[in-house]
Amino acid sequence: MKFSKVLPVAALLALVGASFSAQAYDADWKRGRVYYRSVCTSCHVASPIGSINPSTKTKADWAAYLKADKHAKGKDTVSRYVSKAYRASIKSGNKAAEKYADTPDQELMEDIKAFLMKGAKDGDAPASCS
Ligand code: HEC
Repeated sequence: MKFSKVLPVAALLALVGASFSAQAYDADWKRGRVYYRSVCTSCHVASPIGSINPSTKTKADWAAYLKADKHAKGKDTVSRYVSKAYRASIKSGNKAAEKYADTPDQELMEDIKAFLMKGAKDGDAPASCS
């Protein structure tokens, strides 16, 4: 009996907390741009795919892409390349990864999203990768 009451309340509190923290963070699109260009693009350029300009997709495309979190045709995830663990693994050879080594994953992801929204085909300032 006790549990059936405590659990929904706990779930609700967790939800409220999550939406609060998501709102409390004011995304920094400039930081997102630095990270996108230095980390995401530098690998794309070295891969057969080549650079991927933010302006090749619409805001809705990017939002759906990030939400699905399937990268490289589903072989891995976008969040993996935003994670602290990934930054730590490349920071000796990548200045942006070193500079943002301690940025919380969630914040960096919001920053990248803000940059992609701004730089999208239908965004405020359609952007290239470099
Ligand atoms: C370690 C290398 C590497 C890093 C880092 C990387 N990517 Fe990629 N990415 C790839 C490769 C390789 C492909 C192409 C996969 C294919 O076509 O089979 C790709 C494809 C993509 C695509 C095209 C659609 C898709 O998923 O196939 C997008 C969009 C993309 N990456 C976004 C990002 C973003 C955003 C970041 C940074 C947060 C990032 N990538 C970091 C290697 C990387």
